[in-house]
Amino acid sequence: MADKLIIFDTTLRDGEQSPGASMTRDEKIRIARQLERLRVDVIEAGFAASSNGDFEAIQAIAGIIKDSTVCSLARANDRDIARAAEALKGANSSRIHTFIATSPLHMEKKLRMSPDQVLEQAKLAVRYARQFTDNIEFSPEDGSRSELDFLCRVLEAVINEGATTINVADTVGYGVPELYGQLVRTLRERVPNSDKAVWSVHCHNDLGMAVANSLAGVQLGGARQIECTINGLGERAGNTALEEVVMAIKTRKDYFGLELGIDTTQIVPASKLVSQITGFSVQPNKAVVGANAFAHASGIHQDGVLKARDTYEIMRAEDVGWTANKIVLGKLSGRNAFKQRLQELGIEMASEQDVNAAFARFKELADQKSEIFDEDILAIVSNEAQAEGGEHFYLVSMAQHSETGERPSAHVVFTAQGKELVGDAEGNGPVDAVLNAIESQVQSGAEQLLYSVNAITTGTQSQGEVTVRLSKGGRIVNGVGTDPDIVAASAKAYLSALNKLYSKAEKLNPQLTP
Ligand code: KIV
Ligand code: ZN
Repeated sequence: MADKLIIFDTTLRDGEQSPGASMTRDEKIRIARQLERLRVDVIEAGFAASSNGDFEAIQAIAGIIKDSTVCSLARANDRDIARAAEALKGANSSRIHTFIATSPLHMEKKLRMSPDQVLEQAKLAVRYARQFTDNIEFSPEDGSRSELDFLCRVLEAVINEGATTINVADTVGYGVPELYGQLVRTLRERVPNSDKAVWSVHCHNDLGMAVANSLAGVQLGGARQIECTINGLGERAGNTALEEVVMAIKTRKDYFGLELGIDTTQIVPASKLVSQITGFSVQPNKAVVGANAFAHASGIHQDGVLKARDTYEIMRAEDVGWTANKIVLGKLSGRNAFKQRLQELGIEMASEQDVNAAFARFKELADQKSEIFDEDILAIVSNEAQAEGGEHFYLVSMAQHSETGERPSAHVVFTAQGKELVGDAEGNGPVDAVLNAIESQVQSGAEQLLYSVNAITTGTQSQGEVTVRLSKGGRIVNGVGTDPDIVAASAKAYLSALNKLYSKAEKLNPQLTP
């Protein structure tokens, strides 16, 4: 078989560690289904021991996903590993990913353990995980800042215990391509049983080099697995972006000479879904998935592209899933056409009742705007999922008034656990007035970290997608709302952020707790 590169997606675990990006079980399931359509080899669905919510999400994903291996992260202790194994029980193919820090700094300051204790714990963890599966990944956390001799000892020992994948973590994005590539190569050369494991790269983007480091780990180091996230989502500056490494390997096959199992036409739908669910929008000039990635603005380039496409294009937009904004449905479309489009978009509704509720929303939207695009349908499904989720706060109606020379005012009716609340307030602008009206009743006192508006398709008819990021008591949450009226979208986004803030779902960050 040709030399295959394994794509390990960690959007649902490392991506979710990004402040504000936490997802509900149903949102995770929607993303997992899309990752399966993208044909990623491994889906890291979460960290089972971090919360009951994460455990349940992994369990549900393990039961649904058939073609990708489903993986859970676990710290190197029996409790975490047993929890991961339990969550993965129903999977067709599963993997336990266990890790412990190996750099002097992390061992001394974070773990307060000696190198010998860390070595012992790593061995015991892999030995214990072997009771549940023979597909075990081991990561030396902060591997790129670890001492080489010690790292070699640990990796040799865990491979002897049965680890089948070794993931060289550049946890803090400290690596530079040549050195990181050499590190992977040296480890493979010096660890005597290195041929018994697949070598993997896991890079963070603190210096903007995660993709370059990952590719160097593959090309110079001989790694055959890349860990990455959709849109490069992740803590701080994020992780290696899946779309970038995949398209680099594919477009420069002449150089890398590697096979991939990925269906690249699913990249843009995956990017849009992750950005819509997490509220982390994609910058327009982002490689592959940014709105301008295939826009030839300059006259010279347009001329070239019209004469011969490859003068200025190294990839084809349609190969990564860009389609012209197609009007897919309209006011006269019936329930069957709507249902069929849901199926084509890979959206599975839990029941006919859910289809009916989404169809009713579609009809409402079609009354407001005549052309309905795929993006609108995705937004309807997200809104519907929020409503179905029995949200604590839910918008009923709102009115706002703004006039030149007058201070804007708003009147908002919303429910809090089924009880109707009415808020009236003024503000600097209509959006501010609406959020003040909600806050006058809820009195969350949360700090607003971000407010952003995007048009989900093009033109002023488009629905507005608003993201609001709130912080309170050390917790950061993102709320997303869509509506043709951006003031209503803002109210929905604010209420969605409050729902997350008030949910009890606290999660452990695996790397902050020894
Ligand atoms: O960055 C990191 O070190 C991790 C490990 C848990 C693999 O995400
Ligand atoms: Zn990481």
